[in-house]
Amino acid sequence: MPPPWLRAALFSLPTLAASSSFVATLDPDLTFRLPLGFRQNASASFLATDTSPAYSDQQLANAANATAIAFSQEFADLFPLNASLQLVAEMAQPFAVEIGAWDCRRDQVWLTGPTINGTNYLEVLDLNSSQVYQPNTSLPIPNPNGGFYSNGTVYIASDGDFATPPAIYSVNATSLETTILLDSYFGLRLNGPNDIAVVNKGNNTFLFFTDDPLSALYNAGQAPTLPDAVWRFDFRSQTLLPVIDRADISVPNGIRANREGTKLYLTSTPDPLTYGANGTASSAIYVFDLDADARPTNKQLFGFAERGISDGLHVDDAGRVWTGEADGIFVRNEQGIILGLVNAAAVLSEQEMEQGYMLENFALAGHKLVIFAVERVYVVELAGRVVAC
Ligand SMILES: *[C@@H]1O[C@H](CO)[C@@H](O)[C@H](O)[C@H]1NC(C)=O
Ligand SMILES: *[C@@H]1O[C@H](CO)[C@@H](O)[C@H](O)[C@H]1NC(C)=O
Ligand SMILES: *[C@@H]1O[C@H](CO)[C@@H](O)[C@H](O)[C@H]1NC(C)=O
Ligand SMILES: *[C@@H]1O[C@H](CO)[C@@H](O)[C@H](O)[C@H]1NC(C)=O
Ligand SMILES: *[C@@H]1O[C@H](CO)[C@@H](O)[C@H](O)[C@H]1NC(C)=O
Ligand SMILES: *[C@@H]1O[C@H](CO)[C@@H](O)[C@H](O)[C@H]1NC(C)=O
Ligand SMILES: *[C@@H]1O[C@H](CO)[C@@H](O)[C@H](O)[C@H]1NC(C)=O
Ligand SMILES: *[C@@H]1O[C@H](CO)[C@@H](O)[C@H](O)[C@H]1NC(C)=O
Ligand SMILES: *[C@@H]1O[C@H](CO)[C@@H](O)[C@H](O)[C@H]1NC(C)=O
Ligand SMILES: *[C@@H]1O[C@H](CO)[C@@H](O)[C@H](O)[C@H]1NC(C)=O
Repeated sequence: MPPPWLRAALFSLPTLAASSSFVATLDPDLTFRLPLGFRQNASASFLATDTSPAYSDQQLANAANATAIAFSQEFADLFPLNASLQLVAEMAQPFAVEIGAWDCRRDQVWLTGPTINGTNYLEVLDLNSSQVYQPNTSLPIPNPNGGFYSNGTVYIASDGDFATPPAIYSVNATSLETTILLDSYFGLRLNGPNDIAVVNKGNNTFLFFTDDPLSALYNAGQAPTLPDAVWRFDFRSQTLLPVIDRADISVPNGIRANREGTKLYLTSTPDPLTYGANGTASSAIYVFDLDADARPTNKQLFGFAERGISDGLHVDDAGRVWTGEADGIFVRNEQGIILGLVNAAAVLSEQEMEQGYMLENFALAGHKLVIFAVERVYVVELAGRVVAC
């Protein structure tokens, strides 16, 4: 038994008021202080932490089945009393894994399946009708992986295939007219653009994208020729520059800016062999300031993926940072404090998780959270709008 003072600190009734039974509240102390004798390892959800026989705790067990787990009132308040997981689309094959770009004018979400050699395709989910269809883009976009909607245009990061170099495509969301915005740096191919953030700054617009080797096998069999990097395309001067080196972020993956365009957030996804306790890299989230010229400066560590990797990243209008991680969709405030999470175990089957699937990406769509659960898409209606058009 832990001493009584520790027990009181650990398992005092949470002061958080659960806003609905959909949300389980957990004492935030549980994230950093557990009774003597607890056992946990990096291949299981933290909810499976074994606190017996030192102490028999029901909090973690009760939370294991909750859809949302709050460590803060701010997170609990995101969900209305009647919150529920609404299944809006389902297919007998993996189709809902990546992109998560919300076209606010049409209330549609662009998505794609897992990157499977040459067979991945673009899809659009219409949130009003719950229909999923393949957009007839005027150019085929092989192996799409990330994307961003801005002012009538959907930008897509494509890994390319054996015939087509990796590229950033620009798709008119109305006409589906498609052009290649960029595909090279002085004749050298990109390695595999992963995700995109378009940032309006002053009277200019910048497109940031991450380029990494995660899908390099599609790159016409060519070894990467450029260092992995974060790149910035300047629409006004029509120039492409590397702005973050791999020495600063080893494998840049998800990328988004805050609404004000003053902060740039990135996830890094090093090879599983190089992260973990004895590794040299970290599966981490970083934040940079964006200076007046939209240059990332002042790199700061923002968080570690609680388990596994962090992948898709979105920032809501309140500055909260939402990331897809092994145990679910984590929500951090601007200071990096974890406010709560949407529990992967409530959304994915055990079999899907054993196959290595996680909630890689998702979309914030007005007052809706759109969750990509591999063969299903769920919508959670939030208590209010988290992103505006
Ligand atoms: C870690 O957790 C997993 C999943 O619960 C379990 O299968 C495995 O045996 C554990 N490994 C160790 C070393 O405890
Ligand atoms: C969680 O769900 C599982 C499977 O439905 C069930 O066996 C278990 O009793 C539930 N746990 C709690 C604490 O409700
Ligand atoms: C919850 O209640 C509100 C207000 O009555 C309603 O508009 C909304 O559709 C409900 N949501 C769900 C998921 O039932
Ligand atoms: C991917 O597809 C290409 C073309 O069909 C094939 O040559 C290559 O071997 C495949 N690579 C893998 C890793 O399956
Ligand atoms: C939404 O869907 C309903 C029925 O599915 C349809 O009648 C309505 O016109 C749609 N609204 C929009 C804005 O597309
Ligand atoms: C895309 O084009 C195909 C072939 O022309 C057509 O069958 C399909 O209906 C079109 N899809 C949409 C969403 O317009
Ligand atoms: C949005 O696009 C329209 C053209 O479709 C253009 O006139 C306008 O300047 C754009 N706005 C911004 C903020 O880029
Ligand atoms: C998209 O195409 C439509 C129809 O051709 C055009 O009116 C609109 O200006 C285009 N939008 C942008 C952002 O280029
Ligand atoms: C906006 O652009 C115009 C001309 O392109 C320039 O004169 C002006 O200084 C710019 N304003 C800002 C805030 O950058
Ligand atoms: C890290 O340690 C584990 C366990 O000792 C070992 O299996 C693994 O190979 C090590 N990884 C690296 C990159 O050294």
